[in-house]
Amino acid sequence: MKAKKKVVVTGAFGYSGKAISGKLLSKGFEVKTLTNSPDKPNPYGDRIEVEPFNFHEPEKLVNSLSGFDTLINTYWVRFNHKKFDHENAVNNTKVLFESAKEAGVNRIVHVSITNPSIDSDLEYFKGKGELEAYLKSMANNYSIIRPAVLFGKNDILINNIAWMIRHLPVFGVFGKGDYKLQPIHVDDFADVIINECQNDKNTVIDAIGPETFTYKELVATMMDIINVKKPIIDVHPYLGYLVGRVVSFIKHDVTITREEIKGLMDNLLFVDSRPIGKTKLTDWVRENQNTIGTRYANELARRV
Ligand SMILES: NC(=O)c1ccc[n+]([C@@H]2O[C@H](COP(=O)([O-])OP(=O)(O)OC[C@H]3O[C@@H](n4cnc5c(N)ncnc54)[C@H](OP(=O)(O)O)[C@@H]3O)[C@@H](O)[C@H]2O)c1
Repeated sequence: MKAKKKVVVTGAFGYSGKAISGKLLSKGFEVKTLTNSPDKPNPYGDRIEVEPFNFHEPEKLVNSLSGFDTLINTYWVRFNHKKFDHENAVNNTKVLFESAKEAGVNRIVHVSITNPSIDSDLEYFKGKGELEAYLKSMANNYSIIRPAVLFGKNDILINNIAWMIRHLPVFGVFGKGDYKLQPIHVDDFADVIINECQNDKNTVIDAIGPETFTYKELVATMMDIINVKKPIIDVHPYLGYLVGRVVSFIKHDVTITREEIKGLMDNLLFVDSRPIGKTKLTDWVRENQNTIGTRYANELARRV
């Protein structure tokens, strides 16, 4: 009998990590997760082995990774905060890559972002650029997957746009709302990752869905499907940010950061590549039109 392929995936109880782990298990992979949240609900029970990251004890991390063929890395932080930041996430990820190498892991499948750049003035995109360069320099066998925006059950961004459509009297888009984004369904994204676990070439893949929207089109399309009619107005990005701050204050969250607004407005969630995802956001919103955005998705609450 052929031995099961052994994969370590980070964050199996988080967002994309959960979708990836479910697919790996259903395809017969042996799966271990490294997580910051071993106490989050575990939908996979004892089918998945669970260990903490141990970024500060690399010898433990090497042990956790020993005997595995592939590492899938989703680990990252969305914004800087008093308890976590991009600089640390970059350093931790380097420790993770080095530990995988020392443990003899054959392939690293790493999740990045569209348009990463070491020269970016945005820490998110700069950190991702730095990590891509680091991985390429130290690993012989890697795949880098660059999603734009993920959507699907329990996503944050698309759900919270729907939440604002439902709960705010008007929807303000930053500037003219003419910058683009290309959302990909989390299950399609997970399929790309699983394919890349079975590939042995060094690859860099933009992971985008079949539909491209300007931000304003996205909001208008979602309003239409959810059947909520409200004015969509152009607002100065700083005013939009301040509204986000008010929502953040009420919800005890970080709804959106100035960096995220700038990344969006600089068209960094848009690439001129062939779509790889099949699921249309419009179809998915239609299927979930009665539930999407009825509850606010709270990033910080998920961390606690
Ligand atoms: N979601 C999107 O729309 C989107 C768009 C473009 C790119 N990406 C990239 O896709 C990857 C996965 O995204 P995701 O949304 O699926 O992420 P996620 O589930 O929220 O987190 C992925 C991993 O990072 C850890 N993590 C997240 N925030 C953290 C924090 N503040 N402190 C410590 N650990 C933290 C999680 O910890 P736990 O182990 O505790 O769960 C998990 O192991 C990331 O690399 C992200 O940059 C995502």
